[in-house]
Amino acid sequence: MSPFPAISKLKRFLNIWNERKYKQAIATVNQFAMDAVKSKETQNIDEKGDLLSRFTVLTYGMERNENSRREFLRDNIISFIFAGKDLTSIALTWFFWLLDGHSHCKNLIRKELATLTLNRPLYLTFDDLKSLNYLHAALSESMRLFPPVPVISKSALDDDVLPDGTFVGEGWFADCSVYAMGRMERIWGSDCREFKPERWLDGNGVYKRLDPFKYPVFGCGYRSCFGREMVYVQMKLVVVAVMNEFEIEVVGGGGTPEKVVDPPYRVATVLSMKKGLHARLKKREQTQQQSYGARVQDGGVIMALFGLFLVGLSLYKRKLYTTRG
Ligand code: HEM
Repeated sequence: MSPFPAISKLKRFLNIWNERKYKQAIATVNQFAMDAVKSKETQNIDEKGDLLSRFTVLTYGMERNENSRREFLRDNIISFIFAGKDLTSIALTWFFWLLDGHSHCKNLIRKELATLTLNRPLYLTFDDLKSLNYLHAALSESMRLFPPVPVISKSALDDDVLPDGTFVGEGWFADCSVYAMGRMERIWGSDCREFKPERWLDGNGVYKRLDPFKYPVFGCGYRSCFGREMVYVQMKLVVVAVMNEFEIEVVGGGGTPEKVVDPPYRVATVLSMKKGLHARLKKREQTQQQSYGARVQDGGVIMALFGLFLVGLSLYKRKLYTTRG
């Protein structure tokens, strides 16, 4: 990139400097994903296997030539890695930052986790995770204020007119600022800049899903994110594991209500935290911990992703999860 597009174009044409490095980086990532696609083809797979096996089997019926079929799979793998690792860890970074600035919410989550483990001391099932209504609400609220994908961009294939009468020409970009929408008084009311998980709960404390057109964190309509449910499973598992083991103390203080208004973000394709999250982890006393294992039905895939995710979690540079039966 360059402030002068002509210079960028020239560098790209001559294949020099950062344009050359950029091309090489893309080739490395593509090769990595393509190797995974090809290695599947040498295995005995069916539509009941892991995600990539299922995808591979499904694409065998597609009317495309072999190369474009493989490229399709390759691009999907890259999306899964990007979505499963980067977006989810970014969402959790903001979540832990916010919790450190809202001790009332942190206590309510701890209380909810304690109830769960008293009921079922050894295992976490999908039903257990589903019952974590307050945590679900707090995660949604955190992503309202800090959507991992802050802007969704589309480009128009043809001339079109939006429902409010705005004309969009062929090839124009139409951007939706999810970040701005999450902080609009017109949509969320006068407390729109406050971290209030309660807005996602009904009178009985049960999580209520709000209109995706009001909350387009996962997109809305036909092309919305299909990883949405999985994201909550992943995030809940991580929160339970981390909060059971550690007290997180953000260096310089967490996301207090004042900081939420002027947060330390860095806008790119994703909304990451400027300079990352610096935190001290204090091991909790054994007596404060509950005894968790993670037994999730069909848990192989989930736990594998969970492992991948933990590796990528930018928060910690040390081992943060020990499983006890
Ligand atoms: C916190 C994590 C995530 C966030 C915030 C997120 C957000 C989004 C957004 C904003 C879109 C675009 C929607 C649109 O254009 O209208 C999208 C699409 C998509 N997401 Fe996610 N995503 C996340 C995690 C995941 C995961 C873990 C997976 C897969 C395992 C996934 C799979 C997809 C796919 C396949 C699409 C494309 C859907 C289509 O074009 O039909 N996402 N996601």
